[in-house]
Amino acid sequence: MGVVVAFEEKSAAGTGIERLVRLVAADMTRVNQLIVSRTGSDVAMIPEIANHLISSGGKRLRPMLTIATAALSAYRGDGHVKLAAAVEFMHTATLLHDDVVDESDMRRGKLAARMLWGNEASVLVGDFLLGQAFKMMVEVGSLGALDVLSTAAAVIAEGEVMQLAAAKNTETTEDEYLAVIRAKTAALFAAACEVGPIIADRPKAEIAACRSYGANLGVAFQLIDDALDYGGASAKLGKNVGDDFREGKITLPVVLSFRRGDSEERAFWKRALQDGDVREGDLDRAIGLMRKHGAIDDTVERARHYGKMAKDALAIFPQGEMRAALDEAVDFCIARAH
Ligand code: IPE
Ligand code: IPE
Ligand code: MG
Ligand code: MG
Repeated sequence: MGVVVAFEEKSAAGTGIERLVRLVAADMTRVNQLIVSRTGSDVAMIPEIANHLISSGGKRLRPMLTIATAALSAYRGDGHVKLAAAVEFMHTATLLHDDVVDESDMRRGKLAARMLWGNEASVLVGDFLLGQAFKMMVEVGSLGALDVLSTAAAVIAEGEVMQLAAAKNTETTEDEYLAVIRAKTAALFAAACEVGPIIADRPKAEIAACRSYGANLGVAFQLIDDALDYGGASAKLGKNVGDDFREGKITLPVVLSFRRGDSEERAFWKRALQDGDVREGDLDRAIGLMRKHGAIDDTVERARHYGKMAKDALAIFPQGEMRAALDEAVDFCIARAH
């Protein structure tokens, strides 16, 4: 599995986010405290479910980006901590909802909440977290930040519905796929990066630069996630490899393989993804066809392209530790095997 080796070699070589983690550590301690305290409720099932997911870890990538872009914008104040917690709550809510929609069994290396408490409870606790996220945004009192994050919440939901509509359709184009991932994933990355300069009252060009960084990083992140669903290791991902295939989800590795395949190969993709008739050995065959057509490598290549756009977006900021850390975060997302 060449792709797995490539990812692992890179992460072993130290394409890490250590610097970013170090620079935002003090604020992230406050973010994490806030996250735990805001899951509190007299309804016992709410903190139980929320803490199951939150204590399982997660990279906390999006709130780190909020803290980092606030620092890059020389923000002086406390609002960024609440906004970062709100961003992670929005993310956690979408994961609770997404695992129901995707019928996923595993999340962050543990059984998905829906496997332990059921779909209904997962959806409702996701709604609670979303509500708490908006409460924190209101407490910060920036209408601009509220505008950006509430728009993102709507766009994420649109993306998930768009994906539902494209599910099992092997004729899906790369453009349609991109529209889905821009909405379901990149919108939150973009918003997470935009609210820092907004509450710091920075000029429009800087706000746009941070947003562009987040949006392009988000696209790269999801492209890699979709490559890893065929080329990664479940243990490292904390979720099952091959989920996308079993669900009939049309991601870029499939779009490219289908388009590049002959009629017999297309019949295979249609049987497995469109008809949902998945047989023993089909996932291996799918991965084999992806390799034959370079579909996983090209997906990673596309991610690199968006990663470069993310880095270039930051060019208007002076060179410094925080900008370097944000550059490294791009490399981390592209090299990640977890
Ligand atoms: C998972 O996001 C959802 C996707 C957009 C693919 P992450 O991989 O950032 O999830 P955690 O928070 O680290 O578990
Ligand atoms: C993650 O999407 C959830 C959102 C971005 C809303 P996916 O369904 O593609 O990601 P995983 O594989 O479940 O983490
Ligand atoms: Mg999913
Ligand atoms: Mg999904």
